[in-house]
Amino acid sequence: MTADPTPDRAVEPSAPSAPSASDVPEAILRLSRSARRITVLTGAGMSADSGVPTFRDAQTGLWTLVDPQDLATPEAWHRDKPYVNAWFLWRVHLMSAAAPNAGHHALAAWAHRPDTDLRIVTQNIDDLHERAGSTVLAHLHGSLFAWRCDRCHRPAPTPHAPAEPTERIEPDSCSHCAFGEIRPGVVWFNEPLPDREFTDAVQVCRDADLVLVVGTSGVVQPAASLPHLAGARGIPVIEIDPRPTEFSPFATHVWRSTAATALPALVAALDRA
Ligand code: APR
Repeated sequence: MTADPTPDRAVEPSAPSAPSASDVPEAILRLSRSARRITVLTGAGMSADSGVPTFRDAQTGLWTLVDPQDLATPEAWHRDKPYVNAWFLWRVHLMSAAAPNAGHHALAAWAHRPDTDLRIVTQNIDDLHERAGSTVLAHLHGSLFAWRCDRCHRPAPTPHAPAEPTERIEPDSCSHCAFGEIRPGVVWFNEPLPDREFTDAVQVCRDADLVLVVGTSGVVQPAASLPHLAGARGIPVIEIDPRPTEFSPFATHVWRSTAATALPALVAALDRA
């Protein structure tokens, strides 16, 4: 499965001080230097250093006792639109208050290096990659900033998100069709992933000469299958995550570090090449 039969094992997390090129494992630096088509698969850990709460962390105040899986489903939406609408608008507020971290900025800088085609596929519904200057090829689980009509599916502006948690907010009505209401553009549990995004994600995992997997536990399918597509073709796959994941045993190299530490150190080392 792996390009290197004896994948590097965990590298001790780099020192909490400012990242430096010497923190970068040599094998990872060597592969990154020679790579021209780089696919980066990111998950919630990519945004962790921006303080973006997970579904569960946001369960404060009004929603302390609510299971997010009871909120992020089509059934919940049709059962109580104002309640689900208010919860997602609270997340819009929380995400808007967050800022891209050094990891987001490092990926944006890497993409601007000469002879580099860097493609980002994310499971995250935030817009931190974009706000750092990256183009995101695919938001596999949708985006909290891509609202649409729940009937005609036409895109709609992101509604105003109150700065205070609010239990119920009536959804906006669709300005195009008579009965539709504006829902979050995220992929809810029991909903299929968007075809175009997943097809593109498969393609860039198959045609890459290097894949990085950053901040995902690798348990949610079908996103979790993507790095295996690369590995099966002998494409090196580097995992950056402070903790072991479902994918760790299959990674060509594992870098036990955070996105906000490892990625800036790697790009700084590339700049020194
Ligand atoms: N830097 C890098 N990785 C980190 C950091 C960090 N600072 N902090 C945590 N991590 C890692 C964790 O060790 C974990 O492996 O990020 C991963 C987060 O895993 P999950 O919380 O399961 O997030 P993710 O894999 O993106 O979840 C997939 O599940 O909740 C649903 O739809 C939601 O898109 C999400 C999907």
